[in-house]
Amino acid sequence: MILVTGAAGFIGANFVLDWLAQSDEPVVNLDKLTYAGNLQSLASLQGDPRHHFVHGDIGDRALVDRLLAEHQPRAIVNFAAESHVDRSIHGPEDFIQTNVVGTFHLLESVRAYWSGLDETAKAAFRFLHVSTDEVYGTLGATDPAFTENNPYEPNSPYSASKAASDHLVRAYHHTYGLPVLTTNCSNNYGPFHFPEKLIPLMIVNALAGKPLPVYGDGMQIRDWLFVKDHCSAIRRVLEAGQPGETYNVGGWNEKPNIEIVRTVCALLDEMSPRADGKGYAEQVTYVKDRPGHDRRYAIDATKIHRELGWKPAETFETGIRKTVRWYLDNQAWVQQVQSGEYRQWIDRQYGAKG
Ligand code: NAD
Ligand code: DAU
Repeated sequence: MILVTGAAGFIGANFVLDWLAQSDEPVVNLDKLTYAGNLQSLASLQGDPRHHFVHGDIGDRALVDRLLAEHQPRAIVNFAAESHVDRSIHGPEDFIQTNVVGTFHLLESVRAYWSGLDETAKAAFRFLHVSTDEVYGTLGATDPAFTENNPYEPNSPYSASKAASDHLVRAYHHTYGLPVLTTNCSNNYGPFHFPEKLIPLMIVNALAGKPLPVYGDGMQIRDWLFVKDHCSAIRRVLEAGQPGETYNVGGWNEKPNIEIVRTVCALLDEMSPRADGKGYAEQVTYVKDRPGHDRRYAIDATKIHRELGWKPAETFETGIRKTVRWYLDNQAWVQQVQSGEYRQWIDRQYGAKG
């Protein structure tokens, strides 16, 4: 079996659903269920003996030691993290606690477990750490895309905390020989994406008749990848990646934010037109920029393609259409997450207009 951390979150939930759709190898899912963790995303696995959910913190040594001893996983995929840049600006502490200290404790538990395995199991074991392109910092308009050799230059508390965790993972390979793999992926989008990130926020606000808040001039560029393509990349790296290596994962889909927002609006105009006959783009509102906002990210995914044969299955056009359709068809999921702590966040970030 494999242990997957943070699998009640956006990418982790998609990963577990895809994993169990393709294999009968069981998954232990360790998740703290922060505001971003949502077991509704895994409701289709209710009663499935291949999915075992454990509510807990990656930083809880006693719990993780016990889980490893009990389940003897052959691999760990570490998604658990605080993941939202804006939240890291308002309050960095949780990011340091989970992304840095939590990853450290997890690595310590894993090192102890791995050291006790027999030689065959030791050689086959993998610790896959899921990271981000944001650790590389920001690009100018004409700079080449990030390769695995770019220096780390993180600019937000979030990206700095992810960079720190990547360094720890690297060090556990070089110092202790732990067979680690690291993936650095660009912006994901797709089903079960928490509606405080750009694409789901725009869909949900548009349908609710609310403003569509675009930071600054809206010309910041991100490189978008459909979440299921990220999941297939992780499966491939787990299967065939070289221990100690890092792999950039991206969709070759660089787009300015305003273009993303306009595309979402156009799809909603087609699939769920406004009652007044006007376009959703009328709701676009430019708001104060994010402090320290990185201007451009772009991933060069040549290495994972050349060495492991991975490439994305979706184009942005097909992926974004599926995504908008999913949100229209799953409004109960949206309503369920739009409560409690989420509501307070929207008020804090965007004020009463949010
Ligand atoms: P998310 O915020 O949707 O989910 C994170 C999950 O981790 C939640 O279920 C949360 O409850 C859980 N968690 C948080 N702290 C925990 C702790 N201490 N112990 C156990 N569980 C904990 O995040 P996501 O967008 O699914 O991202 C998953 C991973 O992928 C993160 O490591 C993130 O840095 C990375 N990543 C995300 C993107 C993206 O576009 N979303 C892109 C590249 C990399
Ligand atoms: O690049 C990978 C990263 O992508 C991941 O590591 C992070 O976990 C993930 O959250 C995401 O980070 P971003 O900051 O790029 O995602 P977000 O959806 O918050 O913002 C995308 C872009 O849209 C960014 O340039 C900020 C802008 N934005 C965002 C929001 C929420 C807006 O213009 N308005 C908004 O309301």
